[in-house]
Amino acid sequence: MYALIRPLIFLLPAETAHRLVMAVMRLLARTGLVALIRRDVSDPRLRTEVFGLRFDSPIGLAAGLDKDGEAVRGWEALGFGFVEVGTVTPRPQPGNPPPRLFRLREDAALVNRMGFNNHGAEAMARALASPHSRPLGVNLGKNKDTPLERAADDYLAAFRALADRGDYFVINVSSPNTPGLRSLQSVEALGEIVRPVLQARDGLTMRKPILVKLAPDLSNEDAIELARACETWGVDGLVVSNTTLRREGLRSNPALAAEAGGLSGAPVRARSTELIRVLAGATPLPIIGVGGVFDGREAYEKIRAGASLVQVYTGFIYGGPGTPSRIARELSDLLAKDGFPSVREAIGADQNRLK
Ligand SMILES: Cc1cc2nc3c(=O)[nH]c(=O)nc-3n(C[C@H](O)[C@H](O)[C@H](O)COP(=O)(O)O)c2cc1C
Repeated sequence: MYALIRPLIFLLPAETAHRLVMAVMRLLARTGLVALIRRDVSDPRLRTEVFGLRFDSPIGLAAGLDKDGEAVRGWEALGFGFVEVGTVTPRPQPGNPPPRLFRLREDAALVNRMGFNNHGAEAMARALASPHSRPLGVNLGKNKDTPLERAADDYLAAFRALADRGDYFVINVSSPNTPGLRSLQSVEALGEIVRPVLQARDGLTMRKPILVKLAPDLSNEDAIELARACETWGVDGLVVSNTTLRREGLRSNPALAAEAGGLSGAPVRARSTELIRVLAGATPLPIIGVGGVFDGREAYEKIRAGASLVQVYTGFIYGGPGTPSRIARELSDLLAKDGFPSVREAIGADQNRLK
């Protein structure tokens, strides 16, 4: 069905198509119509538990699609086993001027420089007031006009405003579209952001896992150093990875490929999986693997490399509403074929083989 509609959707500029999808999903999420899109992903083989949360499926929606948390029930109905909303900043901000989202079709990729357009933490708290049924992550960022030296205040403010709404939280220091943000990926700068959030978290009655999302453009050595520091501070997990600034080997129109912003989809797949493998070998922290997953085999590769959960963004844009349930089904078949009774047994299977 989506194969028929996609060419029409792809006639629209990328951000217009995104707005249309969000409008439909918002409508479905707010009404009983959500039943129309419900897909079943109940499969004992896919059930798992990570950082104290239970998941019916390890395939989740990555941050950046539902920036304001407006359609959570819709994503759940499509069969995502968990949903990450955001990036949310404490105060609303418009993001960069359009155009800021581009399709690189020949590369099964997107380039975006959205720049954390969002309605702010208070609006998200209102949007998330109604209950959700699957684990919900909230991805936290800083406002563009907050000086880098005050970045920690923004992460803490956004966390405080949403602490009782999310089930886990992600400190995002890896988006390429907020000037200087990635410079916060040093042990010193990251520590100053992470420690106050962990302290605030420790004062809550419910334990909320705190994760850190990393860029694929870090060297393996720097990423390992950061991951080990995260472990020492008491961070609960890593999200690997965000979009890349690299542009090697693309086949799309060079003008499109040269657009400023983060590249996602197929071209980031191999590097993201490699970084997962490197980090899973260096730290016991659970990893959410993300980058270029379009099918069950690609999700399985990330799990075998060491990811406990997998997220999808660009694969969903190209694959449509059936994507999360299809990936889950394909993953389950691959696990069965290789004799894994549950997804948990397959995590890091390639690590053990390498050792
Ligand atoms: C249009 C767009 C917007 C994004 N916005 C965010 C964001 O706000 N916060 C974030 O942490 N990641 C954001 N991402 C990155 C994705 O969450 C993901 O890490 C990345 O796209 C790689 O996964 P994919 O290849 O499945 O898209 C965005 C990606 C795209 C394509």
